[in-house]
Formats: sequence, C-alpha cells, structure tokens
Amino acid sequence: MIKKKKILSIVGARPNFMKVAPLHRAIIKSGLFEHSILHTNQHYDDLMSKIFFKEFGLPKPKINLHSGSSSHAVQTATIMVEFEKVLPKLKPDLIVVVGDVNSTVACSLVAKKLGISVAHIESGLRSFDRTMPEEINRIVTDSISDYLFVSEESGMINLKKEGISKEKTFFVGNIMIDTLVSLQKEIDKSEIKEKYKLNGSDFILVTMHRPSNVDNKNKLGEIIKLLNEFTNYGKVFFPIHPRTRKMLENYNLFKKLSSNKKIIITNPLGYIDFISLTKNCKVVVTDSGGIQEESTFLKVPCITMRENTERPITIKVGSNILAGTNSKNIIDHVEKIFKNNIKSSKIPKYWDGNTATRIVHHLNEKLN
Ligand code: UD1
Repeated sequence: MIKKKKILSIVGARPNFMKVAPLHRAIIKSGLFEHSILHTNQHYDDLMSKIFFKEFGLPKPKINLHSGSSSHAVQTATIMVEFEKVLPKLKPDLIVVVGDVNSTVACSLVAKKLGISVAHIESGLRSFDRTMPEEINRIVTDSISDYLFVSEESGMINLKKEGISKEKTFFVGNIMIDTLVSLQKEIDKSEIKEKYKLNGSDFILVTMHRPSNVDNKNKLGEIIKLLNEFTNYGKVFFPIHPRTRKMLENYNLFKKLSSNKKIIITNPLGYIDFISLTKNCKVVVTDSGGIQEESTFLKVPCITMRENTERPITIKVGSNILAGTNSKNIIDHVEKIFKNNIKSSKIPKYWDGNTATRIVHHLNEKLN
C-alpha cells in the first residue's frame, strides 16, 4: 500500500480556525492525505480559541506550542523556536498556513529552512501599508511559499507584480466562506438576538481591535464617542476583543461605554452567534479583515474604519465602504444606511463554499 503524504495545518489566532476547518474536512473526505493540526496558542483564551474547535468540529491539535502573547519579536521567535523542535519529529510533506498572523510567518520560515514545502491560503492580499504587522507577515510568507492559494482577483495581480511564478499561484476563492456556507442552518438557529432583546434589525454591530485604532488613547477615545453617537440610530452591539478591553481599562475609558444603556458590551462571541448578528444587523462597523468578507457574502453593509483594505473586492462588489477614521464621515455613512440609501452588491467569484475542495484538488495534482 502506498503511504499517504502528510499535511500539517497551522492555527494560532482566532481568524485561522474558520479557514482550517473546511480544509480539514475536505482532506479527510478526499482520503488523499493524512492531515493533522498544530496550534501555536497565539490565542489562548477559551473564547478566542477553544470555542471554535467545538463549533467547527475540529479535532484536537496534535501539538500545542503554548506560545501565548508578547511583543511581536518575542511572540514570533517563541513560535519559531518551539516549532523547530517538533517539526522534524512530525515529518510532514507540506505545512499549510493561513492568513496573515504572526503564527503564519513564524511557521513558514521554520518549515522552509528545514526543507519542508509551504502552502499559503489567503495569499496575495496587500494593503500596501507596511506599518501594519499583517502586511509584513503576508509579504514574507508569500515570498517563500511553494503553493499560493488566492481568494480574490487582486491577489493574483499582486503576486504577479511581485514576480511570483504563475505555476505556484491558484485562484481558488475564499475558504472562510466555506465555513459560513456549511453552518448556515446553525447560524439561523442562533438565539443571540433574543438573548440581548434585539428586535428587528436596527442595530449596529461593532468590532475594533487593530493596534492603529485601539492602542492610541486619543483615537480610542474618539471611537468611544462615535459609538455613543451611533445610539442615536439604534442599539450598538460591541463584543470586545481582549486587546481592546485591556486598552479601554488602561486608559480608563471603559465607563464611557458601559454607562450608555443602548450599547451592549460582551466578551468575544462564538462564530455562530457572531455571524447571526452580522446577518441580522443594519450595518457592521469594523476594522477586521475577515468581517469585511463575511458581510460581503451576506450582502450586509460594512463600514471599515481603516484607511486601506487588503480586500479590495469587498469594495468593488459594493457592500464595503472604506471610511477611514473621521467620525463625521462615518456618521454620514451610517445615516445613509439607516435611510436605506444602500447600493446593491454582488458575491465575488468562487466565494461559494467549495474553496477547500479546489485546494485539495490542486494539492493532489502537485503532491501525489
Ligand atoms: C491577532 C493578529 C491579527 C488578527 C487578530 C484577531 C497578528 C500580528 N495579529 O491580533 O491579525 O486580526 O489576532 O483577533 O498576528 N489576548 C488575550 N487572550 C487571547 C489572545 C490575546 O487576552 O486569547 C490579549 C493579550 O493581552 C495580547 C493582546 O490580546 O497582548 C493581543 O493579542 P495578539 O495575539 O498579540 O494580537 P491580536 O491583537 O489578537
């Protein structure tokens, strides 16, 4: 009997789990490879990690590197040191990394230097803003990966401009959408709206965690003012990322939020409840990357509080508005959306729930 090739997928932070889950399922279904998962533990809280294994039916990781939080250099280096210890024992034929977090770049570097091939899912995205840690992670990972799986057309153009050979790049669509498609029924059964007495859809869903927005006291103060202004339109639902909570507490801003009864503050939510809120709200206001994509698929307006996006397709198809951080500008957009002055939008190519299957097909052609 021919031995199956071994694939090891890396997860580390919250946005990774919804990308690796469909790949795991597609690999197992194909019967073509052996598959296991390694968790760097970049995100370690139950609400940032464990809950997703349960919701997505992901198997327990074969290895946990217990890296945890720290400065960028320490976090990246810790993951590299720990990964280098276990990788020779695991002997995979390929590692799969996803997205743009520190775990992604750290594990790619280690694998390549040990002569192991790397596949990068969500390759080619560029914000062209090198002050973003994620942009550095994307550029470095793409420059050393062997197989680059791309979620939107801009990614193919960016990789070509960077001189990456066409043979290595594959336009396969958005694997995160596979998870959304497969969990539609569970999402529709979520009772999160009832739990928080959100009637109708006249509420605003807010997420905020980028260092550029939350690590600066003045900027974070402005955002809190803005959230209070949003309540002139409807309730505001704000599940708070650990980084943001820490900053709100450090800067003594938490009270300014919690004193407004129309602002619902919660811990980070699970996937099913969060997507249920995304699907049912009037508008999402966010600085996340993934939420721009999920709202695009659900055709819910999204206001992105950043100066740039590495996901330009979400703007091109009409659901996402790149609003920057100017409060007046953001309020104008919210007002328009509440007056139902909304553009119709489309779903991007290959965001159809079958991306993982396409990836497995290409991996089979290349590896077997
Ligand atoms: C990371 C990713 C970012 C992604 C985000 C999603 C990088 C460079 N950044 O940012 O791209 O959008 O995850 O959440 O990889 N913390 C906890 N519990 C946890 C995890 C973090 O309390 O489970 C706190 C720690 O105090 C830590 C801070 O949050 O210092 C930031 O965590 P970190 O992993 O460094 O980056 P994120 O801001 O979460």
